Amino acid sequence: MTYWRYIILVALVFAVSACCNNEDPILDDLRAVFVPQLPAHVEPMTIPDYNPMTKAKVQLGKMLFYDPILSLDSTISCSSCHDPNLAFSDPRPFSLGVGGATGLFPEQRRNAMALFNIQNDRFLFWDGAIFAEDGAFDELEIQSLKPILNEVEMINTLEEVNRRLKQDPVYVEQFEIAFQDTVKDIYIAMALASFERMLVSYETKYDLYFERGLDSTVFTEQEWRGFKVFFDEREGKLHAECFHCHGGPNLDDPGLTFRNNGLFPSNDPFGEDLGSFRIFGDEVGFKVPSLRNLSFTAPYMHDGRFQTLDEVLDFYQQGGDPNNINRDNLMRTMGFTDEEKADLKAFLLSLNDTAFVTNPELRP
Ligand code: HEC
Ligand code: HEC
Repeated sequence: MTYWRYIILVALVFAVSACCNNEDPILDDLRAVFVPQLPAHVEPMTIPDYNPMTKAKVQLGKMLFYDPILSLDSTISCSSCHDPNLAFSDPRPFSLGVGGATGLFPEQRRNAMALFNIQNDRFLFWDGAIFAEDGAFDELEIQSLKPILNEVEMINTLEEVNRRLKQDPVYVEQFEIAFQDTVKDIYIAMALASFERMLVSYETKYDLYFERGLDSTVFTEQEWRGFKVFFDEREGKLHAECFHCHGGPNLDDPGLTFRNNGLFPSNDPFGEDLGSFRIFGDEVGFKVPSLRNLSFTAPYMHDGRFQTLDEVLDFYQQGGDPNNINRDNLMRTMGFTDEEKADLKAFLLSLNDTAFVTNPELRP
């Protein structure tokens, strides 16, 4: 008797494991953990322990990024202010939220930042308002629910977003594939952040220069002259000084300091934006933006005051506005000539990554 029981039990165990041993290669592939590979001259990507990357999360994050379902009246998606054709930036000086909403305060009236190579940034936003606990590297997760709730952006609630997503069978299935669970706030954040980690832009001549062991022949002669102006420093005499603030492979300040390049006065009738002062109470500074993809990310600066790169370079040639009391010491009349200015511009344009702005995998 016991013997027969034993046989039946064994048979059952076999049957169950055969039926449910989840050998679906497509699902396995979607759930397999991967780390996006970056070129050798770039720091490896930091990914929070609790949110390893999978194709399923990236796919879901992409759906959410492009879906106006997240906004109050279903009119605005992340991509309304972060356009993939424009390196995920906004051509309007100030972005408009649901129903044309803008804020009264300067910090609610900023130029939407381009989104790429932000995976390792310690701070997000022009003023650094978003940052993670030391070593958590999850500022993208922290950030991603804010636009949904923001009173001048999507003006929605998480309860409402959850309700809508749970009513949509496609989303219910996608959450199940990505998280083996139903829709939840934290999963929305994790999926959006996973998609944003795929926004990687390292296919420019500048990258080729590193990949070929500092080979300057990847540039045209003019671009190379501009490169040297950009990275030049003349003893006791200001030259272009760009690299002090726009450094490293990404030509930004990897988020550790906020700088003031002497913009003044604000072009915003509602007053001056105090930038990082508002958050940290020390200096009035701004996050140093990457100089990649500038052909796509106009207008420039936190308040979108400059429409063209020529305007930007004229501004730098003068060293910013002396009436700005917070202007960095590096910003004084910079001794670069008009010819050097043209060279600088050529170098800046060599930092465009067309493969990135046309990458079909980053589109809906
Ligand atoms: C109404 C326009 C608007 C919408 C919609 C919007 N953003 Fe933004 N985004 C902005 C603006 C403006 C900033 C700069 C904010 C600041 O500095 O205060 C910004 C900044 C960011 C940053 C910081 C980038 C950096 O380099 O620091 C991230 C990341 C981001 N947005 C992601 C998203 C995601 C994800 C969504 C959708 C859930 C979204 N945004 C929806 C306008 C928008
Ligand atoms: C003292 C630090 C500093 C120096 C030096 C500096 N920049 Fe900047 N740059 C900044 C900061 C900070 C911003 C953002 C300012 C803001 O919006 O308030 C910026 C913004 C820019 C932008 C606009 C990018 C965008 O997406 O809006 C360009 C282009 C630029 N800088 C190019 C240069 C060039 C070229 C040089 C050298 C001639 C240079 N910068 C020197 C700090 C600096």
